[in-house]
Amino acid sequence: MLNFSFENQTRIHFGEGQIAKIAGEVPKDAKVLITYGGGSIKGNGVYDQVVDALKEHTWFEFSGIEPNPKYDTLMKAIAIIKEHNIDYLLAVGGGSVIDGTKFIAAAALFEGDDPWDIVAKQQAVKRALPIGAVLTLPATGSETNIGAVVTRDGNKLPFMSPVVRPQFAVLDPAVTLSLSDRQISNGVVDAFIHTMEQYLTYSVNGKVQDRFAEGLLQTLVEEGPKALQPEHKNDLEVRANIMWSATMALNGLIGAGVPQDWSTHMIGHELTGTHGIDHGRTLSIVLPAVMKVCKEAKHDKLLQFAQRVWHVSEGSDEQKIDKGIELTEDFFKRMAMPVRLSDVDLGEKDIDLLIEKLEAHGMVALGENQTTTLAVSREILNTAL
Ligand code: NZQ
Ligand code: ZN
Repeated sequence: MLNFSFENQTRIHFGEGQIAKIAGEVPKDAKVLITYGGGSIKGNGVYDQVVDALKEHTWFEFSGIEPNPKYDTLMKAIAIIKEHNIDYLLAVGGGSVIDGTKFIAAAALFEGDDPWDIVAKQQAVKRALPIGAVLTLPATGSETNIGAVVTRDGNKLPFMSPVVRPQFAVLDPAVTLSLSDRQISNGVVDAFIHTMEQYLTYSVNGKVQDRFAEGLLQTLVEEGPKALQPEHKNDLEVRANIMWSATMALNGLIGAGVPQDWSTHMIGHELTGTHGIDHGRTLSIVLPAVMKVCKEAKHDKLLQFAQRVWHVSEGSDEQKIDKGIELTEDFFKRMAMPVRLSDVDLGEKDIDLLIEKLEAHGMVALGENQTTTLAVSREILNTAL
């Protein structure tokens, strides 16, 4: 196992009715800005629950944070923050709203010239407004982690800072019942691939991390398809297991002390940046190709994955690995996700631009061994055609 330091201070309130806990979490004298997206929270009662919980507080609101949040949209919140002396942000939504709020929190106290430098030049974020989160879409893990991804002019770039980690997060599985099938699938597959990015590398004998990851993968494989079935549509136990899996998949725990990959995500971000494809759907296209192209480097873990997650026991090691990859693709298809570039109407002609973008963003040595050069990324995209 590799050395590591681990902490995650986000206090989690999990379960039905827990939105009311916001009242005790947000300081009584705070001037709060509630941030949200396109309005789903008004249709499913989440907005009303939040407003009810904040009835003793002074609060304002900022809406319109879009999926894959845009820099220009987020910067509009800064004026409201200045005007009303806002000193607490409450993000209510999915990964985009929480990520966007993290950027707002950092940009509001940024001392440099241009807050875009936070992602473009990876300028360290040392101060940020405090954040609380009410999660409505289990997927990204943003509700308890230190990362965020922001888009400007087709450039989708991440940043990380411990000061933007939410102080608390409310995870109520009941609020996920209003999700469309498409967003359920995107979320389940995103969480599955977060787990894979921290698992499918090379072994450092991190038994706890491996078995924890395998448990999350198996839970997502069991519960994900159920959430799409009419007989389980309103099953809160299914939603609870998906929600907790997604948070645990990217809260730092399973990635502590083990190598990490993240090439699927970095290639996926270029697909979203250039073609607007949903985050989760970029990943279900790229991961199978990464598994195939990087088969040699990931050999032992691919075999372990096939045996332990999919219970493959027949054939040679190579056959078991291939079967594991096939079953992973089948799972994505059962979740109604694309698994090839052609499934989203992209082809060979589109690869050059994606490679140019990877180069422009410095994504030239990806993967656990930094061996996914631009040439390897091209091979991955060709394999995904
Ligand atoms: O905007 P509203 O109206 O709320 O609708 C949203 C949005 O249209 C809707 N939605 C959310 N909760 C709902 C709901 N609709 C009905 N009922 C509910 N309960 O879902 C749509 C998509 O929301 P979005 O927040 O974009 O989805 P997701 O949570 O998948 O977030 C994706 C973003 O997170 C980033 C991605 O790159 C992408 O920008 N990521 C953040 C990470 C992190 N911070 O650690 C890691 C991830 O790998 C990822 O990169
Ligand atoms: Zn992701």
